[in-house]
Amino acid sequence: MPLHIIIGAQWGDEGKGRVTDLLAAQADIVARYSGGDNAGHTVTVSGPDGPRIFRLHLLPSGLVQPHVTGVLGHGMVINPARLLEEMTALRGLGIEISPARVKISAAAHLITPAHIALDRADEAARAADAAGEGKIGTTGRGIGPAYTDKTARRGLRAELMADAERLGDRVADQVRATNHSLEKLYGQPALDPAQVAADYTAYARDLSPYLAETSLYLHQRLSAGAVVLAEGAQGTLLDLDLGTYPFVTSSSPTSGGAFVGLGVAPRFAGRIIGVTKAFQTRVGEGPFPTEAFGEEAQRLRGTGANPWDEFGTTTGRPRRCGWLDLVLLRYALRVNGVTELVLTKLDVLSGLSTIRLCAAYQAAGQTHDELPSGPADLAPFQPVYETMPGWSEDVSGARTLADLPPAARAYVARIEELTGVPVSLISVGAERSQMVRCD
Ligand code: GDP
Ligand code: IMO
Ligand code: MG
Repeated sequence: MPLHIIIGAQWGDEGKGRVTDLLAAQADIVARYSGGDNAGHTVTVSGPDGPRIFRLHLLPSGLVQPHVTGVLGHGMVINPARLLEEMTALRGLGIEISPARVKISAAAHLITPAHIALDRADEAARAADAAGEGKIGTTGRGIGPAYTDKTARRGLRAELMADAERLGDRVADQVRATNHSLEKLYGQPALDPAQVAADYTAYARDLSPYLAETSLYLHQRLSAGAVVLAEGAQGTLLDLDLGTYPFVTSSSPTSGGAFVGLGVAPRFAGRIIGVTKAFQTRVGEGPFPTEAFGEEAQRLRGTGANPWDEFGTTTGRPRRCGWLDLVLLRYALRVNGVTELVLTKLDVLSGLSTIRLCAAYQAAGQTHDELPSGPADLAPFQPVYETMPGWSEDVSGARTLADLPPAARAYVARIEELTGVPVSLISVGAERSQMVRCD
């Protein structure tokens, strides 16, 4: 019966995919409710031939568990070319992808090459505008323009794929309309409407069997006792309304977005699970009060040698790294109504002699435990750090709290104290089993 919601409590990449995969063991359905292939969710499962790494962008991470049905909710924006590529890649890794297992909301919106061209052109224009706030640092996947078309009520919904020829005509019209902006406004080359139409006609033939009325499907399954996990993408601080605007994405990745983006009523809500790293990262532009630089940042980021080092799953960009910001975390827990925290990447902190943690902000001689005017303008604030002793032990084999060194337990306890939210799980490695259960 319950809809458990997994949300990112920071700026994305908290390890939501890995947490979703683990919790999906006890779920029937896993549903994505917002965003598109700007998301990159990684699941690592060891097998007889070593670790297998699944990289998901559009399909729910829960599909790695064989018993789970996946839903792509109508809050999403879907690039059909990328979805088909991802389906092929997952099939190659032994995952069953079929209309019985994967359901795409007929009301989700489609991303086209026109959206991608506009996204990139707009970023270039923002970067060149000396008077503006600069570029957003988007993933260049066409996300913003696709949601713009949706809210302007001229978007292309997935239901159009039921009639491949009609979709082709609509896409050709959209490309022709966009070419005008691309050429006249941005000085960019035009796209070929006939080619894009032909491509979309072919995608529609492949994807139309997956179309479903997913809101009705979820309602019926929840009413019959199924456990549904809503898998958040991005993070709270990237939420269009609640994040560090304008350096945000164009959707609602917070818990409220799950009800809208799936068409499930709030009365079904169960646990609201906030995922946070044991430190802070951000990819793209925008404020980051606890950002570290130089050697300190490099130590948190890693070199790129490990698959979990802080380089974007989607774009490969090095992530900006810093110390855990409890002011922003408290904010995220509040606006989502988080009932439990999952702390990831505790293992990355092993070997640091001291760990910093931002407990409050200071501005104009005043200390702030909460954000007095929301997260958009963080420029006036200086972090007030607490310093805690680190630990040298490798924690990646820990499975219970007692397995963790006292300094690591003290760090977790301080996070619970400063947030008032219990930590239920602590991830100590990328692999599925590398999890400390706190009960
Ligand atoms: P998501 O976007 O929130 O799903 O997170 P990503 O998958 O983009 O980024 C998290 C990265 O950290 C992935 O490479 C995960 O495999 C990895 N990861 C997740 N949890 C842990 C952990 O506890 N320790 C380590 N070392 N890596 C982790
Ligand atoms: P997951 O689900 C981290 C960031 C981009 C940029 C801003 C807007 O893997 O946590 P967009 O392309 O959405 O218009 O870019 O949002 N961003 C993410 N950062 N993880 C993500 O997803 C992100 N999805 C978008 O870097 O700053
Ligand atoms: Mg990610």
